[in-house]
Amino acid sequence: MSQKIYKVPEDFAALAHLRNADYQRLYQESVRDPQGFWARMGRRIDWIQPYNKVKDTSFDERDFRIRWFYDGKLNVAANCLDRHLTKRGDKTAIIWEGDDPKLSERITYRELHERVCQCANALKSLGVKKGDRVTIYLPMIPEAAVAMLACARIGAIHSVVFGGFSADSLAGRIADCGSSVIITADEGIRGGKRIALKSNVDIALTAPGTDCVKHVLVVKRTGIRVPMYARDQWFDEVASTQSKDCPPETIDAEDPLFILYTSGSTGRPKGVLHTSGGYLVYASLTHELVFDVREDDVFWCTADVGWVTGHSYVVYGPLANGATTVMFEGVPNYPDAGRFWQSVDKHKVTIFYTAPTAIRALMREGEEPVKHWSRKSIRLLGSVGEPINPEAWEWYHRVVGDSRCPIVDTWWQTETGGILISPLPGAIDQKPGSATLPFFGVKPAIVDNEGQTLEGATEGNLILSDSWPGQMRTVFGDHARFIETYFKTFPGRYFTGDGAKRDEDGYYWITGRVDDVLNVAGHRLGTAEIESALVSHSKVAEAAAVGCPHDIKGTGIYVYVTLIAGEQPTEALRAELRDWVRKEIGPIATPDFIQWAPGLPKTRSGKIMRRILRKIAANEHDQLGDISTLADPAVVESLVRERMNRP
Ligand code: PRX
Repeated sequence: MSQKIYKVPEDFAALAHLRNADYQRLYQESVRDPQGFWARMGRRIDWIQPYNKVKDTSFDERDFRIRWFYDGKLNVAANCLDRHLTKRGDKTAIIWEGDDPKLSERITYRELHERVCQCANALKSLGVKKGDRVTIYLPMIPEAAVAMLACARIGAIHSVVFGGFSADSLAGRIADCGSSVIITADEGIRGGKRIALKSNVDIALTAPGTDCVKHVLVVKRTGIRVPMYARDQWFDEVASTQSKDCPPETIDAEDPLFILYTSGSTGRPKGVLHTSGGYLVYASLTHELVFDVREDDVFWCTADVGWVTGHSYVVYGPLANGATTVMFEGVPNYPDAGRFWQSVDKHKVTIFYTAPTAIRALMREGEEPVKHWSRKSIRLLGSVGEPINPEAWEWYHRVVGDSRCPIVDTWWQTETGGILISPLPGAIDQKPGSATLPFFGVKPAIVDNEGQTLEGATEGNLILSDSWPGQMRTVFGDHARFIETYFKTFPGRYFTGDGAKRDEDGYYWITGRVDDVLNVAGHRLGTAEIESALVSHSKVAEAAAVGCPHDIKGTGIYVYVTLIAGEQPTEALRAELRDWVRKEIGPIATPDFIQWAPGLPKTRSGKIMRRILRKIAANEHDQLGDISTLADPAVVESLVRERMNRP
């Protein structure tokens, strides 16, 4: 833990929404009187029917409930659009920056409102009603935000699937939530490479369980010829003929807004379900305060809308706040390593929010591609997705931020809907690598493996002992799995799956996942998913996936594969298995290394000992710990020998 302290710059604090004393006072109030605190905060958005009831939550299994603002009614899209029209109709809502640096577009609130209404009417014309599911499988183009908001406008539940996921992953997500409509594009384009989105949809729709889909709307992005079947229609043709007026549906605060699939330690990805009122209050409040957003800011969160960061801080938080949000279609190193900073200068970005993996990749390219651009518009930097190592933090601060911009290291999860632990930039001094202190209403604690709460400076499992408005409400279609996954390990408390340290100043330092979830380049993957993809290959008998240290990705994917008897381990097969996982899950799941394993270390009851496999992958053979409980300790020796044979 780096104990270097970066004080809040005085000039920043002077203009900030909140200073340290404000944070202390409001935090105390938020945990002492959550009802009163959130009753006040909830008023930041527009309610069609104001709430009288604020918080009704219990994590106790016998009496489990999570409800916020639950007698209120609102419309999320109207909050992101209509209510800005009088004051901000001509203000830019979205700045779209294309993959090709020559392409960009500015969309005002008025234009966005029209496009959303047309899309909402198009969905209605296809029979979509409140509560129906719509899968969005799009590149980072304005239509992605338009489609999300159109669903919100009519009360349909969107499920955005990241464009980098394979046809198989897409099919699983379509079938699980029973979508009736898919919105996709002919192709995506990232870093100059094309992604065959429509073709993936066509393949996905041949999979079992996807016959729920009645219509596919296709946005023309690259203009390539794609087959159009009876169920397919061009997005533009359906939307452009619709009325630009679509009255927002009245939605209960606890009606679902979206489902977003995320990986857990077991089984298939689960459909994390977020509802409307609490989510929007939380996304907009955290957006305003963590990023200290003001009217003239240009806010750029580089995440794809396929992830929760894109939901809360590209679309819902910024638009609910009437801010200008940047949507970036490309990647950090295309056409060159200066792309972020070139775009920052082009659009005069003032707040820039990205992931440690991107920072580490750019760090490797040296300072020149950064220094080449002025970046003088930037006043605040943010980090999200994985622990940021202090070296990367320092580089981000010194090189990108010219040592003048605070950094907010924001810890949160798909399940939490918004940021839970982070500095407020005008209020909380930063320490490189620490997410610092909890946001309002958030009650983190550290417990040991038996669930005992640990006090003071300590290390253990990170839990949350009370609810916050942005919390997920259930796993779509499987409430038992929701309780089982998050509230059983430490009864009565929400288990994050993360480990954390707390220092003498009460600052939190997230140490990473303590379950079987890998965080690869800020993307979440379950070891079980990777293993099940591998064993579905005809030559694989058994597989175990673990994380290994990786310079850029933070964590790399290391898999051990036992072949079916008689199959030969060849380089060609290794390449085939890598491609297989890419095809089954998507490129983000590509194994970094495949080690052949004649056998896997298992306990006598047959459980794979991943702890040992992690140590072998990390080349820490001297720290294997107790292997006496293994069914066959000789397996370990052979794996170590094989591992030592390569660098
Ligand atoms: O392990 C934590 C890590 O990312 C996990 C959540 O992943 P996901 O649901 O995909 O959401 C990512 C974006 C919110 C967490 O359990 N994580 C996220 N942010 C941080 C982090 N770890 C350390 N520091 C962070 N700032």
